[in-house]
Amino acid sequence: KRPKVFVTRKDVPQNAIDLLKSSCEITQYDGVGAVPRAVLKERVAEVDGLFCLLTDKIDGDLLDVAKKLKVIGTMSVGYDHIDVKECQKRGVLLGNTPDVLTEATAELTVALLLCTARRLTEAADEVRNGGWGTWNPLWMCGKSLQGSTIGILGLGRIGLSVAKKLLPFEPAKLIYYNRSEQDAAATVNAEYVSMDKLLSESDFLIITCALTTETRQLFNKKTFAQMKNDAILINTSRGPIVCMDDLFEALSTGQIGAAGLDVTDPEPLPTDHRLLTLKNCVVLPHIGSATVATRMRMASLAAENILAGLSGQPLPASIY
Ligand code: GLV
Ligand code: GLV
Repeated sequence: KRPKVFVTRKDVPQNAIDLLKSSCEITQYDGVGAVPRAVLKERVAEVDGLFCLLTDKIDGDLLDVAKKLKVIGTMSVGYDHIDVKECQKRGVLLGNTPDVLTEATAELTVALLLCTARRLTEAADEVRNGGWGTWNPLWMCGKSLQGSTIGILGLGRIGLSVAKKLLPFEPAKLIYYNRSEQDAAATVNAEYVSMDKLLSESDFLIITCALTTETRQLFNKKTFAQMKNDAILINTSRGPIVCMDDLFEALSTGQIGAAGLDVTDPEPLPTDHRLLTLKNCVVLPHIGSATVATRMRMASLAAENILAGLSGQPLPASIY
């Protein structure tokens, strides 16, 4: 009998659907946007495999009804939306999509860094709004990467790729903080420093760490006070690592210089959120891995994880 798999979103890339259909019976949420919790709970009770996204909360309460569930494949590298311990306790296998999105996400991080440092969205808005009077010596001046100290929080695959991509911009120094010192840091000449030093010395501080109990709200009133007044903060990881209210204060009082966020708390960020009134804040809608090829590869890897789990093979990308 073919195993059953529930796919939580309508517009998942077809390559993954085809792959799953080759050996499974699939049902797919066909409403708009994220699957409502009640529907997810109902469907997950009947299936052996679950294809989910980072917008689906997978916790003990949900797993309690998922009596037949053997494997979960999330179409994301991050898995802070999933209670890993609860999965482990019940023997539910868990796969994510590392590596395949590293370069796309690192590219977006560099793009957002340059965009924020050189005030691109603000400048482009001026052209539209008639704010472009004449060439002006000090108008729209930003900050250069050359000669700067770039700090990276979390030198994992994505952080390391960002560092590699930034080296040609000739920063004076690359520094990083991580739970443990990383051997690969030597390949980009990055120096391991304390969190305090990362905060106080970075001209650009890039967040590429996972969201954990240690990193949740790590950027707050207290840590912003340790940063340089012209520091630029970039977050392409998870929104809750930064306290949004404290960030607004820090940006509007000149405690720090600017911020570029591809992730926010909550998501989506309401259009009337006060961060959006600030010129020194660039907000993108969580598009780090958003290239067509990357999203197709993420979808197929998530499907491959599920197929492997259902047939008793090791998952190509297992979380534990
Ligand atoms: C995106 O944020 C991901 O975790 O893949
Ligand atoms: C994080 O998961 C990374 O790949 O750096």
